[in-house]
Amino acid sequence: MTVIEIVLGDITREHVDVIVTAANESLLGGGGVDGAIHRAAGPRLAQAGGTVGPCEPGDALATPAFDLDPPVQHVIHTVGPIWEGGDHGEAEVLASCYRRSLQLADELGARTIAFPMIATGVYGYPPDQAAGIAVATIKSTPTGLQQVRLVAFDEESHRHLRAAMAAVS
Ligand code: AR6
Repeated sequence: MTVIEIVLGDITREHVDVIVTAANESLLGGGGVDGAIHRAAGPRLAQAGGTVGPCEPGDALATPAFDLDPPVQHVIHTVGPIWEGGDHGEAEVLASCYRRSLQLADELGARTIAFPMIATGVYGYPPDQAAGIAVATIKSTPTGLQQVRLVAFDEESHRHLRAAMAAVS
């Protein structure tokens, strides 16, 4: 059984097998959570990203996690949708980010994974809707993972994730 945990904090401090980053297509690093993860993992993460990338929106690719501490086995780089009002397939692309990341984590033999709230920062996805898609997709995707942690970086995101969990429980 997969347990979903909603937490508030910095994803780079998570004790998990896999951390997911909300990347851009180049996988060379950026701002927001991607910037924080690249800073914590060191410059080899961008080199590895450049080797496996680019990555299409909705897809996910894995690299080692290099200097992340606490130690993590892999970083999964996924690219969310840029919000254009909601009529451009954004919800399906966002759901695909979670689904593909979970599938890849399974292939890597991971037992625990931490996700940020993909696309809700620079890419502008409304956090209430994004929280609903995150929770619904994780619940409906078959996975061998024991624990999936959804990490909110601010109180508002945390509230949206807790509301989304309550709505499906
Ligand atoms: N831990 C957890 N969540 C965080 C952290 C952190 N340390 N830092 C920020 N967040 P964003 P996007 C939250 O902008 O919208 C990058 O430049 C943040 O508050 O990081 O998918 C990429 O390279 C928000 O809730 O990702 C792309 O170009 C969430 O993470 C672009 O931004 C996602 O915000 C991707 O934009």
